[in-house]
Amino acid sequence: MKSVSFVLVGLLAQYASAFPGMGNMRKEAGVLPRKPVAEPASTSSSASGNYPAWHPAQKGEVRSPCPGLNSLANHDICPRSGKGYTIPILIDCLKRGLNVGADFSTVVGTAGIASNPNPLPSGLYFDLDMLDRHDFVIEHDGSLSRADATTGDNHSFNQTIWDSVLAYYSGMTDATIPVAAKARYNRISTEAARDPNFSYSPVQFILSYGETALYLSTMGDPITGVAPLEYVRSLFEEEKLPYELGWQPPKVPTTLASLGAMVLQLNAESGETIPEGVILGENSLRAVLIGLNAATGEIENNALYALAKLTGALGSLGGTLKSLTGS
Ligand code: HEM
Ligand SMILES: *[C@@H]1O[C@H](CO)[C@@H](O)[C@H](O)[C@H]1NC(C)=O
Ligand SMILES: *[C@@H]1O[C@H](CO)[C@@H](O)[C@H](O)[C@H]1NC(C)=O
Ligand SMILES: *[C@@H]1O[C@H](CO)[C@@H](O)[C@H](O)[C@H]1NC(C)=O
Repeated sequence: MKSVSFVLVGLLAQYASAFPGMGNMRKEAGVLPRKPVAEPASTSSSASGNYPAWHPAQKGEVRSPCPGLNSLANHDICPRSGKGYTIPILIDCLKRGLNVGADFSTVVGTAGIASNPNPLPSGLYFDLDMLDRHDFVIEHDGSLSRADATTGDNHSFNQTIWDSVLAYYSGMTDATIPVAAKARYNRISTEAARDPNFSYSPVQFILSYGETALYLSTMGDPITGVAPLEYVRSLFEEEKLPYELGWQPPKVPTTLASLGAMVLQLNAESGETIPEGVILGENSLRAVLIGLNAATGEIENNALYALAKLTGALGSLGGTLKSLTGS
């Protein structure tokens, strides 16, 4: 029993040391020109609006580079503190907040826990500010709303960059798969051309498509990918779920399967070349989030794969190891 956890602790510690932490907290200031940010007291409350009260992070609370998780925390659907996110917490709050399925929450949550510099001794969790770490699991260049590491501030919302995405939606009221695909690909080509250190591996290729599929699915429809643009803007610009605008969590859940299918459609619309050997879709999305090579299926990231065993992201083997390590 002890020796199993000892080996895994060692493995994960080695992995963590590859990412000396930036520990940057995402700044929320001065980037919301669309609407003045309301005071907490005057924003929606369960009493007035029948939806969870919203306010941005306050002292001692932390946020991430992810507009989805930040929005959920701002409504206290996921813990408002931004701290101590475990797989069971994520499964519950992503389901309640955005109707995201447990299958996706488990694998993406596992990749999130990989950002914790010391995940095992302290339990299998992450704090939102740990996701700011410039690691190779989720963080990548060519984001929709932030600058690359070498061309600007890589963790804060960047209006200039987001405007270059919104420009594609000019005159439209809904975000759609064909237009979202072109807007995403433009971000990739733009940074590829101007960022001398642009980094874009198959892992990042797949996750970047996944993030576009996520906003279309959760702000709109996980099957058609049609999402009212004002909902999408609320998510990115205010990190607020757009209840006030009429949004409700989609009735159809967002799962690895639905995301995989949408990623394929997005790629078809962008015309971007798929990295050699990669078969886009549900399996490659799962593969990269649990440390497997998306082309060969071989273990590429030993530490992430070990973690996936513990969180249950691999299946039944996970439960066995979880009981061995007592977490
Ligand atoms: C445990 C769950 C999740 C984790 C650990 C996570 C983590 C992350 C991280 C680290 C990034 C930054 C990637 C980068 O651009 O470098 C990101 C981006 C993003 N996430 Fe999440 N995320 C999660 C769930 C969700 C959900 C449920 C949504 C639904 C709306 C979402 C929507 C997005 C979007 C749209 C982006 C792209 C932001 C951009 O390119 O500017 N995420 N996520
Ligand atoms: C780009 O990467 C190279 C080598 O990895 C590094 O020496 C250089 O400092 C980086 N440039 C910037 C602007 O970060
Ligand atoms: C926003 O992005 C643009 C384009 O990459 C960059 O020139 C600018 O410095 C960024 N702003 C911040 C605050 O990083
Ligand atoms: C990311 O942005 C921060 C703040 O601008 C900067 O200090 C850091 O060097 C950038 N790059 C990386 C790789 O973290």
